[in-house]
Amino acid sequence: MRIGILTGGGDAPGLNGVIRAVAKRLIRSGVEVWGLRDGFEGLLHGRVRPLGMDDVSGILSSGGTILGTVNRGDSGRRQAELMQGYRRLGLDGLVAIGGEGTHLIAHRLAGRGARIVGVPKTIDNDVAATDVTFGFDTAVHVATLALEALHSTAEAHGRIMVVELMGRSAGWIALHAGVAGGADVILIPELPHDLERVASYILERHKTRRFTIVALAEGAGSGAAVGRELEKRTGIESRVTVLGHLQRAGSPTPADRLLSTRYGSAAADLVLARRFGRMVALRSGRMTSVPLSAVAGKVRRVPPRHELIRVALGVGATFGQ
Ligand code: F6P
Repeated sequence: MRIGILTGGGDAPGLNGVIRAVAKRLIRSGVEVWGLRDGFEGLLHGRVRPLGMDDVSGILSSGGTILGTVNRGDSGRRQAELMQGYRRLGLDGLVAIGGEGTHLIAHRLAGRGARIVGVPKTIDNDVAATDVTFGFDTAVHVATLALEALHSTAEAHGRIMVVELMGRSAGWIALHAGVAGGADVILIPELPHDLERVASYILERHKTRRFTIVALAEGAGSGAAVGRELEKRTGIESRVTVLGHLQRAGSPTPADRLLSTRYGSAAADLVLARRFGRMVALRSGRMTSVPLSAVAGKVRRVPPRHELIRVALGVGATFGQ
């Protein structure tokens, strides 16, 4: 049996942990494992290399992906070419590690006969049909430390500190890090905010406090615009920090190392059982799998009644509503 493995979309800490677990488990079962370079581009251009135990040893704690990745989306038009590449390589199956975009391509290729197992990745935590993606815990860790650290300089200067966090479509990072990092204002795309209300909240708060920390998901607005607007409306000096790719950089947390190894191992199990056309998923703490159709083209957003929203409100934070 010959199985390809690829990583697609933006990188996330834990990718190497999944590659390692899939490869080790399959090689030990006598399967030939091939690493594809730069996601689905590897199929198009035949850029592959066989992976041996030595290639996947010592990578559990490293960030990035030893296979490389691209974050370009899919034109749809390339499906026939991708299928040609898949067949040319003589693959018996493919493990595709990625987010929503990767799973959409995987689903389309599966419809054309490719045998694919998906693994949910993204720091944004917005892949459908699973409770959590690997990479998210590391991003929340980085964002939490930043929010926490910014308290001292915000307080020293009596400023509003706006911290722009990743999360194009979903506010999971801002919500979790906002609560864990003690943010006063949490702005996420799922809960439309009113900056006038945020400004009133800040003015009221500054009667007894010298500073305000705002955790802003990029999908809810740009840090620069929100900072400028809040300064204008409150008359309080504001500064903006854009945390950017630091949230995806560096070594995965122990929780992400654990999750990526669990996901990789479960993906290898599906391959060995020849259960293709599925994505491994964690649901209510249990490792399971779902059909690719349950994931393709879908985004998992923060439900408006999520428990953490109530928790944040309960400790005095606002969502600007
Ligand atoms: O990994 C998800 C994500 O981090 C988004 O939150 C962000 O907008 C995007 O990727 C940026 O990715 P890139 O720089 O690779 O285009």
